Amino acid sequence: MTLRTEHLTVHYGQRTVLSGIDLDVADAEILAVTGPSGCGKSTLLRALAGLLPVSAGRILSAGVPVTGTSAERALVFQDDGLLPWRSVRRNVELPLAIRGVPRARRRAEAESWLDQVGLAGYEDHLPRELSGGMRQRVQLARTLAGSPRVILADEPFGALDAQTRTAMQRLLVEVWRKRPTTVVFVTHDVDEALFLADRVAVLTRDGRLAKIVGSSSPRTAEPAAAAERAEVLDGLVAA
Ligand SMILES: Nc1ncnc2c1ncn2[C@@H]1O[C@H](COP(=O)(O)OP(=O)(O)OP(=O)(O)O)[C@@H](O)[C@H]1O
Ligand SMILES: [Mg+2]
Repeated sequence: MTLRTEHLTVHYGQRTVLSGIDLDVADAEILAVTGPSGCGKSTLLRALAGLLPVSAGRILSAGVPVTGTSAERALVFQDDGLLPWRSVRRNVELPLAIRGVPRARRRAEAESWLDQVGLAGYEDHLPRELSGGMRQRVQLARTLAGSPRVILADEPFGALDAQTRTAMQRLLVEVWRKRPTTVVFVTHDVDEALFLADRVAVLTRDGRLAKIVGSSSPRTAEPAAAAERAEVLDGLVAA
């Protein structure tokens, strides 16, 4: 298993936010996490990233207990998280620079990733000179440049308009096909969850795992099967 939680429990002070979560994410699987607002989805991702202390239970990454952050597990935020003073190219180069990749190779790799997300020609722009959708694509390029084993994404497309969102979903599928990577992402959109993910985990309001629904046709152009859609929605209603 690439990523596993065993009875994961997280408290904020006296309050239990996540309670006894058991999850197994397979290699190259895409898992969506959904649930009512405030149920602990972002907390779950932050815990998986190693940003939060676990109150009980544990998280294993490739069999090894997670005790802190690692470049192996990249966290993608809803707002783009780019460094505003660095050019698009230098933002994408960042994870490569951290790994000590020499300048010329760093530059070539960053340019290749920017080309793959459709941003060739924008290398020297600053983030503020781009639209929200373009910044989100820069963030995707930066994440991929770091070659993480696991991508953890918190509502990565939540702030985008419907059209850009669809384009980003297709782009993610395209990139994933070229290099299948384990992805755990949070979404409020049931159709997005069933389109992108192999399975959808539904959390309850009190931070438990309500159910996991499999998607029979992830990453295909077919609309989500009505039965799977109903099952996720049922879980959300009961949550
Ligand atoms: N740093 C913190 N300290 C105390 N409580 C927190 C902290 N962060 C989050 N919480 C609380 O924990 C609960 C879960 O928060 P979390 O952000 O994980 O929810 P979420 O499912 O991501 O919600 P949303 O769908 O609105 O993004 C909320 O009730 C929130 O108020
Ligand atoms: Mg959240």
